[in-house]
Amino acid sequence: MITGKPFLSENNINTRIRELAEEITNDYNGKSLVVVGLLKGAFMFFSDLVRHIQVPITVDFIIASSYVMSSTSGKVKVHADIREQVRGRHVLLVEDIVDTGLTLNHIRDNLLSRAPESLKICTLLDKKERRVVNVPLDYVGFTVPNKFLVGYGLDYDNQFRNLPYISVFKKSG
Ligand code: PRP
Repeated sequence: MITGKPFLSENNINTRIRELAEEITNDYNGKSLVVVGLLKGAFMFFSDLVRHIQVPITVDFIIASSYVMSSTSGKVKVHADIREQVRGRHVLLVEDIVDTGLTLNHIRDNLLSRAPESLKICTLLDKKERRVVNVPLDYVGFTVPNKFLVGYGLDYDNQFRNLPYISVFKKSG
């Protein structure tokens, strides 16, 4: 079940996304970017973020997973890779949430091995206190407590991704 009022409302999320996009636009002024979304979780954040970035971009996606229901398996499975060549290009990796950091660490290493000109990371949510591996985060929407969050792309067993806001999920019973 989903408890109480939204943890982050549509309005909170939209306001913060515009700020992040402005920061990204300023940082990449005069450059072009390959923006890589990490699916499934980042699909909504990604599409809202890129529409406010005002430098030329190419979009691409990686589909990866490590969670089964609400626990990490500790193993990152890559289901689909980007099609863009990133060698010598500026890459921005977009994630919905960083928890243990295992997923991002794995994907980051993988992208770095392809020699991009630069690689930065943007995450909507940072659940800092759960971190197992340290991953540098360049743009963070919100630092969040250790609660199970769903909505706006985040799921429990593949449900609730379509909620336009973020809520706390509690297993009933
Ligand atoms: C979720 C989320 C992040 C990752 C974060 O993905 O989208 O990619 O877990 O957790 P971590 O920092 O502990 O690795 P998930 O494996 O649930 O796949 P999904 O994107 O399809 O929801």
